[in-house]
Parts: sequence; structure tokens; C-alpha cells
Amino acid sequence: MTDQTSKIYKLNFYDRLEVKFLSVFLPLVIFFAVLSILLVEGIDYQKTKVQYKKAQQSITADLLALSGEYLWNLDKRRLGKLIESQLVHPGVTGIIVWDEDAQVFIQQGHQEQGENANLIEEPIYFQTDSAREEIGKIQIFFTDKYIFEAFITRVLQNLPIVLIICISIILGAIYISQQMIKKPLKRMVKAIEETEHDNFPTPISWEKKDEIAMVIHSFNQLMKRRQDLHQENKQLASNLLEAQKIEAIGHLAGGIAHEINTPIQYISSNIHFMNSAQKRYVSFLNSLKDQLSKDSDTQNTEEFNKWVEAKIEELDLDFISEEIDGCLTETTEGLTIISDIVRAMKEFNHSGQKDKSQVDINGCLKRALTISSNQWKHIARVEEQLHDGDCMVMGYYNEINQVILNLIINATHAIEDHKTERKGVLKVTSALNEDHCLITISDNGTGIPKDVQDNIFLPFYTTKEVGRGTGQGLTLCYDMIVNKHKGKIYFETEEGKGTTFFIRLPLR
Ligand SMILES: Nc1ncnc2c1ncn2[C@@H]1O[C@H](COP(=O)(O)OP(=O)(O)OP(=O)(O)O)[C@@H](O)[C@H]1O
Ligand SMILES: [Mg+2]
Repeated sequence: MTDQTSKIYKLNFYDRLEVKFLSVFLPLVIFFAVLSILLVEGIDYQKTKVQYKKAQQSITADLLALSGEYLWNLDKRRLGKLIESQLVHPGVTGIIVWDEDAQVFIQQGHQEQGENANLIEEPIYFQTDSAREEIGKIQIFFTDKYIFEAFITRVLQNLPIVLIICISIILGAIYISQQMIKKPLKRMVKAIEETEHDNFPTPISWEKKDEIAMVIHSFNQLMKRRQDLHQENKQLASNLLEAQKIEAIGHLAGGIAHEINTPIQYISSNIHFMNSAQKRYVSFLNSLKDQLSKDSDTQNTEEFNKWVEAKIEELDLDFISEEIDGCLTETTEGLTIISDIVRAMKEFNHSGQKDKSQVDINGCLKRALTISSNQWKHIARVEEQLHDGDCMVMGYYNEINQVILNLIINATHAIEDHKTERKGVLKVTSALNEDHCLITISDNGTGIPKDVQDNIFLPFYTTKEVGRGTGQGLTLCYDMIVNKHKGKIYFETEEGKGTTFFIRLPLR
């Protein structure tokens, strides 16, 4: 039998709603953030490229416009300054001016190589009075590497800002979802947890009018319905307990009547015997009085003695005297048996004892054995091994009595069904431990077959014929011990050898 304790569902970190939310939306948001930056900066990149093309033309035009005059005048200083002013542009890496002898006249910067490099080479003309003469050439080295670098720099600069904004939005969304979804959910879980201890939570209030309000409304209705059902169940359980008690007592009634009837029979025959004895004594006394009144002298005579002896013999007074003692002892014993049974019956169900109180377990065991004595007397002998001293637990008196009686009757049925030559053994024990009392009820009866073991606590499960069992006994025992007393009930059994039921009751 497994211990059915309720468990509260614990969430793993990765199962939490916000973590799931984050794991789905964070990559998405990062992806879209990066994509949007690439898009915006990509457009900017394309624009810068167009501007770069225009800049190439304007730089070339500016250089060609003035370099002809400076080269004609061999004015290296001014030409150098002009080149310097154009090298400021990030797209220009170097400029070389060649004279008409194909000698380098001036060179500044460096010659960019590679796929980003671009070279523009133009002849330099000078307009004399008569003609336009070619006096050299200019080479301008361009690169668009800086555009890509600027693009990457801007992406790297903007990405953290965009990510911070996106993550803040996600955290904000999680916070709002917490408030909107998790808060009512948590309240519902708390309300459900409260019902664990048979408390019924006050209805959850939710001011907003939204879908959550709908769920909470349905939840409150469900809780109300559960509360009503719980009350109905309680009532049914108490009715069932009463019914089972009456049924058990009904089964025992015949036996109890027989138990009481036997002493009543011999008490009545003893009383009959004592009545006739009393009559004989009275008759003897009356005869004696008559005899004495006839002749006062006769009392000392031998004749008188003979008369007395004859009278005693006639009335069988010696036999009566011998029997009377035994009769009285037997009658007293019979009356004790009757009063024990009647007391046990009376004490078995204290109708006033509805609340928890101190219950004497040894008393319960003895009482149940007395009430059921006619059931086991002819088929088993009882072994009692009870805790020496008070064995008190805080519990429901009537229900503990009922559980013990059910288990004793089950045990006697098992012994009866085992059908052996010798009398069976019904053993009851009680032991007091630090925080609980352990009761055992064992029999050496049939034992419980493997395929039956899982079912015996189920309502209405019985292997007995109609009229002998209804299958409610152990269900009620389980409810009373586990649910009502927060104790435990379990068994050990071996087919053909017997069964022991254990009841563990907390002391308070
Ligand atoms: N000590 C035992 N030895 C063998 N079988 C048992 C024992 N106690 C219970 N059982 C089995 O468990 C079944 C259920 O027991 P339970 O007490 O619930 O119902 P019942 O005795 O059949 O009927 P009742 O409602 O009158 O008690 C029994 O029918 C029987 O098969
Ligand atoms: Mg039973």
C-alpha cells in the first residue's frame, strides 16, 4: 500500500513562463534588431558609396584645374599644398604628379592596392597663348575601404543601444505578463494549495475585466462547487460510517445474543436450584421448630438426632449445601460476562463522542475482542500483547473502535476460511513509540492473494459472499486512519500463512 501524501507541483527554472518567453523572444528580437541595424546602415552605406563616386570626380576636377599652372611654373610648394588639401579626403590615399619627361614631379600619400583600390590617371594640360599643351600626368589613388569600415563601426556602435532597448522592452513585457497572467495563476495555485488541508479559500477577486477575469470567475465557481461536494461527501461518509457500524453490529448481534443467552440460561437454572434449596431449608426449619415445640426434652435425645439426620437426608441438604457455593460462583461469573458484554456494547459507540479526545487503545482492543468473542471463540484463540501501561492517543473514539473491530472480524473470517484442524491464532498487539502508537492485528488465516492485494482498500471490493461482507470495511478504515488521523494503515501477508494489519496512529 503506498502512502498517498499530496504533493505540490514544483517548477524547474527552465519551465518558468518568463524563461520560456525569453528563450523564444530574445533570439527573435536580437535577430530583428541586428537585421534592422544592417538595413538602416546598409542604406547609408549605399548612399556613401554614391557620394564617394561623386567625390572622386570632384577631387580629380579640382586637381586638374590648378595643377597645370603649378606644374608649368614648376611650383612644387603650391602644388604640394593643393595635393595635401585633397589628401584630407578619406577616400584619397595618394597622389603622384608626373612631368612631361615621365619623371615624378611630386608624390604624396601611398598607392593603395587590392580590391578596394581605384586609380584615376589623367593628363595635365596647360593653356599657353597659342596652344593647349600636355605637360604631364596626374595619378590619384582612391579607396572605398573607409566606407565599409565606417559601416562596421556604426553597426557596432548602434547594436548595443538597440539591444538594450529591445531587452528592456522584453523585460517590460515579461513584467506586464507576470502581472497579468502569473499573478492570477499564482493566486489560483495558492487557493488550490489551501484546499489541501480542507480549508476553502475565499474567492479570488480580480478587478480588471478581461479574459483572466473569466478564468478566475470559473475557478471561483469550481472552488464553490468543490466546497459543496466536500460537504456532501462528509455527510455521505458519516452516513456510510453509521451504516457500516450498524451492519457490523447487525452481523455480531446474533453472536452477542448467544453470548448473553448462555450465562442467562445457567444463571436461571442456578436461581431455580437455589430457589428449591431455599424452600428445603425453610421446610427443614419449620419442621425443626415443630419438633422442638412438641417436646423440649427431645433435643438432647438420640431420637432427636436421628430425626434431624433423617430430615437432612430426606431434604438432600448436604448435597444442596455443597452445590450452593458453586452455583453462586457460576452465577457471579455469568453476570460478569453479561455485564462485560453490555458495557462493551455501550462503550463501543459513544454517540456524544464526536470530537477528538484521549483514546485508550488497549481498552478499544479489549472491547472489540469482547464484542466479537462469539465470532472467534470457536475457531481461534486470542493472544494479547498489549503495551504495559496507558496507551493513549488523541483521536476519534468511535472510529478507532470501528477500525479495530473491522480488522478483527476480517481476521476471524480469514481464519474461518482457512479451514484447518487446529484452532487458529488471532493476535493483537499495541506498542507505544516516541510519537505514535502501533497496533497490529494478525491472523494465521488464508492470507491475501497477490492479485487481490491492490484492491482491498477500494470501496465495495469484497471476496466474500453476499451477506458476509460488503467491501466497505477497509475503505472506511483507510479513510479514518489516513485522512482523519493522519496515520498509516498497511499490511503484510503471505498466502496460506496469514496476514498482519498495522495501524500507526500519531499520539496527537
Ligand atoms: N485479514 C485478512 N485476511 C485475508 N483477506 C483479507 C483480510 N482482510 C481483508 N481481506 C480481504 O480484503 C477484502 C476487503 O475487506 P473489507 O473489510 O474492505 O471488506 P469485507 O470484509 O469483504 O466486507 P465488510 O464491508 O463487511 O468489511 C475482503 O473481502 C478480503 O478478501
Ligand atoms: Mg471487512
